[in-house]
Amino acid sequence: MISPHLHGGHTPADSDGYPTEVIPPAARRDYSYPTRQRAATLWYHDHRMDATGSQVYRGLAGFHLVADDEEGALGLPAGDRDIPLMITDRAFEEDGSFSYPAHHHGGGVTDAYMEGVLGDVILVNGAPWPVLEVAAARYRLRLLNASNARRYRLALDPPRTPLVQIGSDGGLLDRPVDHTEILLAPGERCEVVVDFAAFAPGAEVTLRNGLGAGDAGAVMRFRVTRRGSDDSRVPQTLSRIEPLRPERAVRTRAWSFRRAATGEHPGWLLDGRAFDPARIDAEVRLGEVEIWRFISDVHHPVHVHLDPFQVLTRRGGDPGPHDAGWKDTVDLAPNESVEVAVRFTDYPGRYLVHCHNLEHEDMAMMAAFRTS
Ligand code: C2O
Ligand code: CU
Ligand code: CU
Repeated sequence: MISPHLHGGHTPADSDGYPTEVIPPAARRDYSYPTRQRAATLWYHDHRMDATGSQVYRGLAGFHLVADDEEGALGLPAGDRDIPLMITDRAFEEDGSFSYPAHHHGGGVTDAYMEGVLGDVILVNGAPWPVLEVAAARYRLRLLNASNARRYRLALDPPRTPLVQIGSDGGLLDRPVDHTEILLAPGERCEVVVDFAAFAPGAEVTLRNGLGAGDAGAVMRFRVTRRGSDDSRVPQTLSRIEPLRPERAVRTRAWSFRRAATGEHPGWLLDGRAFDPARIDAEVRLGEVEIWRFISDVHHPVHVHLDPFQVLTRRGGDPGPHDAGWKDTVDLAPNESVEVAVRFTDYPGRYLVHCHNLEHEDMAMMAAFRTS
């Protein structure tokens, strides 16, 4: 049984993959994805109740790229120089099968499951620590963290050229931003342009993970094999992003992401409650701007369905270096409060806000809101 969800998709409620609206084995169900939204790197994955972590771990996830004329006219690297990179971590048994801890129901919850499942092998597009041969030219890399629970701090080694961010979860930024490191929490996307002309032919460039110990500290490698002509460019103006004005917000809602304090049901709660698929936790009017304040105890990547949001503040101060543009997932640091402006449009129905650490999600750190 699965319930497919298009992450970042502007999708009618009955096609959004509500956790209990599953397709039974051997059955069929039609979904509609009108995709009336700007170009962006979306992805899809299973969203089945209580089993999202184990099913995504076994491979039920993939890219869904949306293009448009605005983006197509910019002259960004394209074709075989536009590379989607899905980063995951997995652990394997000796026979090569996936090693995912037994489901938490019935038995106790191990600490490893509680924190979210980590693997010791980094896979990119399903291959362990792969090597990509590139020309000495600009490449567009669409980075997706599709890991269940692992966060990455990505950097090039040697760091001879910047990671020029051009896009975020919801498509192009208004202008490019240079980074030496990219922080990427589960569910997030970051699009960067890397100019491999900074390296001599024959050079090897490693994409490292500054948050990973041992083997998890490396992600993949680029081998610069040849010179290449390059007529791509990164314009200083990429797009126009309409700011969602917080002073127009009709209300502020707080959502707290915290561990269950006590009780025989260990786990993670949203606003002190475990997800109940039959309950509506919030009613939202279409077209209204709201401020949502997310509050954490430990790291939680918070994801909202239906429409993207804009990060306004972190700990009451400025947004972080990776918060620009339209976001649908935001990485909360421990004991942090992050405010975002959000406006839902077009589709009435039931949608979700949840932690995208997939084990936290399966342990019911999720809530339903209804738009009308
Ligand atoms: Cu990527 Cu509700 O999910
Ligand atoms: Cu989603
Ligand atoms: Cu979490």
